[in-house]
Amino acid sequence: MPQFISLHHEDSAAVRRELAAGLCERPPRVSPKYLYDALGSRLFEAITELPEYTPTRAERSIVDTHLGDIAAAIGTGGTLVDLGAGNCAKAARLFDALQPRRYVAVDIAVDFLRDALLALEFRHPEVELVGLGMDFSAGLVLPTELGEGPFTVLYPGSSIGNFTPDEALAFLRSVRLACRGGGLLIGVDRVRDATSLQLAYDDPLQVTAAFNRNLLRRLNQLLGTDARLEDFRHLAVYDVQRSRIEMHLEALRDLTLSWPGGSCPMAAGERIHTENSCKYEPADFQALLEAAGFQDVQGWTDAQRSFSVFHARAAEG
Ligand code: AVJ
Repeated sequence: MPQFISLHHEDSAAVRRELAAGLCERPPRVSPKYLYDALGSRLFEAITELPEYTPTRAERSIVDTHLGDIAAAIGTGGTLVDLGAGNCAKAARLFDALQPRRYVAVDIAVDFLRDALLALEFRHPEVELVGLGMDFSAGLVLPTELGEGPFTVLYPGSSIGNFTPDEALAFLRSVRLACRGGGLLIGVDRVRDATSLQLAYDDPLQVTAAFNRNLLRRLNQLLGTDARLEDFRHLAVYDVQRSRIEMHLEALRDLTLSWPGGSCPMAAGERIHTENSCKYEPADFQALLEAAGFQDVQGWTDAQRSFSVFHARAAEG
């Protein structure tokens, strides 16, 4: 049986405080980490199947093409720590080349993780599997139960894009420390033309709209708001200056979101900011890694130059 460590005590009072505080900001905001309940995780999986959403396939093709170089950089027989593991599919594709001794799947959506690890155990009985239910959005601190390290941290899928560059720097510093002399394999979405980015975050099948609007259901469940889903629409905006996609939920009429202990009036057209998805030029991201204390940075891209994968070693100390 996989071992499970849950550091994510659903402290519902703290969650309610965080959500209420975000809604009371102007403009109101909700952290993208709340997108990933069981349904949200499945909707995100569906997004990765969309023809318009290319990062997942681009990353897979880069990793497949450069698996030899990647394995040479990481080495075999180590511990892989997978941040935002989800269905664990991305990491599992590395198992044959990296032959990990141990695989630690970290995710805020603990239940989703449980199913994924049980399936993985069946296919890879030789790998020690650990599920770690944890919210690492404020910085990565690995529990002492995992031992000394070194650890190879995997942070695929351009999830780093949810942080602004300043936040990303602070987060990567915490990862560098958590690696304990190991390294980082990270996937980062590249700056590309506005039209294809727009379509990737506002697909015609409206799966991304469902993914975003699911946040209203989560607010209703977690905070006890009375949001009506039909009162909001999904909006994806590309900010060229900051090279980032922003997702918003836009109120379609004047309304008041109410919850036990608070309320938030919204005029028609007002938005709740739900996600940033920052895109990087490879040179800028390499500089960010180095500023965070990583060294020996190696990077790879795909034929379309749409995505990059980097490996970097965590400098000691
Ligand atoms: C999982 C954060 C990388 O930003 O592309 C997909 C999430 N949001 N479509 C991304 C997402 C809308 C995704 N990340």
